[in-house]
Amino acid sequence: MIMKFRVGSYEEYKQAYAASVNDPSGFWAGVAEEFLWRRQWDKVLEWDFRKPDVKWFMNGRLNITENCLDRHLATQGDKPAIIWEPNDPGEPHRTITYRELHEQVCRFAAVLRRNGIQKGDRVCIYMGMVLELPVAMLACARIGAIHSVIFGGFSAQSIADRLQDAGAEYMITCDGGYRGAKDIPLKATVDDALSVCGFVKRVIVLQRTGIPVTMTEGRDVWWHDEVAATEGSVTTAEEMDAEDPLFILYTSGSTGKPKGVVHTTAGYMVYATYSFVNVFQVRADDIHFCTADIGWITGHSYIVYGVLCAGGTSLLYEGIPTWPDAGRFWDIVGKHRATILYTAPTAIRSLMAYGTAPLQGRSLASLRVLGTVGEPINEEAWHWYNEYVGGKNCPIVDTWWQTENGGIMISNLAGVTPAKPGYATLPLPGIQPVLVDEKGDVITGNDVSGNLCIRFPWPGMLRTTWGDHERCRLNYFAAYDNMYFTGDGCYRDEQGMYRITGRVDDVLNVSGHRIGTAEVENAINMHEGVLESAVVGFPHDVKGQGIYAYVIMESMPDDDRHMHVRAAILVTVTEVIGPIARPDKIQFVSGLPKTRSGKIMRRILRKIAEGEMHALGDTSTLLDPAVVDEIKRTKV
Ligand code: WT7
Repeated sequence: MIMKFRVGSYEEYKQAYAASVNDPSGFWAGVAEEFLWRRQWDKVLEWDFRKPDVKWFMNGRLNITENCLDRHLATQGDKPAIIWEPNDPGEPHRTITYRELHEQVCRFAAVLRRNGIQKGDRVCIYMGMVLELPVAMLACARIGAIHSVIFGGFSAQSIADRLQDAGAEYMITCDGGYRGAKDIPLKATVDDALSVCGFVKRVIVLQRTGIPVTMTEGRDVWWHDEVAATEGSVTTAEEMDAEDPLFILYTSGSTGKPKGVVHTTAGYMVYATYSFVNVFQVRADDIHFCTADIGWITGHSYIVYGVLCAGGTSLLYEGIPTWPDAGRFWDIVGKHRATILYTAPTAIRSLMAYGTAPLQGRSLASLRVLGTVGEPINEEAWHWYNEYVGGKNCPIVDTWWQTENGGIMISNLAGVTPAKPGYATLPLPGIQPVLVDEKGDVITGNDVSGNLCIRFPWPGMLRTTWGDHERCRLNYFAAYDNMYFTGDGCYRDEQGMYRITGRVDDVLNVSGHRIGTAEVENAINMHEGVLESAVVGFPHDVKGQGIYAYVIMESMPDDDRHMHVRAAILVTVTEVIGPIARPDKIQFVSGLPKTRSGKIMRRILRKIAEGEMHALGDTSTLLDPAVVDEIKRTKV
């Protein structure tokens, strides 16, 4: 297991941090040396945020799967790499050692090649949380194909959008998936998506649930047939350039359709691993239970790449926290003796609602470190997690980062640097956060708030957005000169600790999932009879943020039709994006508050949705101030 770059004390953290700022190249070269390279880099870093153009470990050559798998074979081939816990507690779990995972990945890599997939090709993966999902990802990486995992909750339309944007001619999916009491028809959804994506040449289908599926002759093949028919395996991995793309992951922004965040090979590998080892203070015998879905970046970095590169054991769970009952997480922790639990505040809040009864009689004694990610954690949830899950005995790491970052950026290091409820606390070595005011000036000193930017590159940062570099520049590097803008607001307290206060753009965070208001509006507007809509967030007890939609219909539905029209709009949003984007509240209105130039004043809509009717501020610049009174009166 690699742990040479683990900082073991607050003092060591301070030293590492100082070194990373004074000599970033020297610092990261020291970290990168711990990995397996086919060829050393010539230069550690070249960068220009204005373009943006960022290159790490230039001309270095490697394959990330040799770091995840091959390098561990000699020393710990029999160590479990992944423990897979199925949705149904009655089905046996599976444990796969590094040797076995290596074998499966090499074999499936050969399957991919046999199916015509080559280095640089994009492969979309739409699967449930099965063991074969990491196998598929790693097999892509083994041959240099670029994977793009699509969360299993997205709709056919969302899949089609991503396939088109990525120009992906290949897909890997399952017949179906299990999530709690539900059977998800994954292949049928893929079929719908492919009805408008004729360019897709091949779909490899893993059998998981056994539900009948339609296999299109010449296009669709079964995973097991292909494995059986394939001779040999890719024992020699493709040699990749440090800056070759490893994967694309789509994420929502404040405008337009989701964009494909591109992560490259070496920098991502180094950063995901470095952050994993340090934040969780990993040990050789850790069992790391990250409850995120692999369809999000958290799963990419802290179920798959970071954990395997470090040589750890990843616990992969197929199902949901509350099935068959609200004690499932605790059963899994006890059954597999998990030492690290990494989850989202929304999951904690949803479990809190069941009280502490589900914790009784379940052993959490193996836990050593707890982590949260995805959204600010409220103090109540923090204390519950600390007291009832951690037994006041486990440090909680509150990890702030984003899809674009590749790995954890601001967080305490478990048991090593101080924790503070509600605070992500301090930046990891290599990360240089700054708070910036409206004018773009850096705010110095402590006890200050501003927009959170990062003023120096780190290895795990995104390099571009697929197919549209200008969009990447505009989104992240244009708001403030020579800085990466996160989109988050932030407070720095008297001690210099960071507290993330939430998005300052039109992006919602619903149960830790990022959703653009524009995306939801676009979906609602596709519903028949809708003229216009405006979507804002509002505080939600479990989800953190809920979705509130103001909708103008061609003709205002009568009171008794409200329910029906609302339900129909929800169906449309589910079809266009997926269930995660369904509004919690829909209010039919006859107009929206707009400025004279026609801009919707979301500030006012947000206040109304939050129920803060008296805090609407100045409404005198509105085109039609009367509309506000109507909206207040008819609030749902
Ligand atoms: C946004 C990124 C990569 C993590 C999973 C979500 C919010 C994330 C925290 C935290 C407060 C957080 C931010 C960020 N966020 N972690 N610990 N405290 N807010 O990744 O979908 O790319 O969303 O999630 O607003 O910008 P994502």
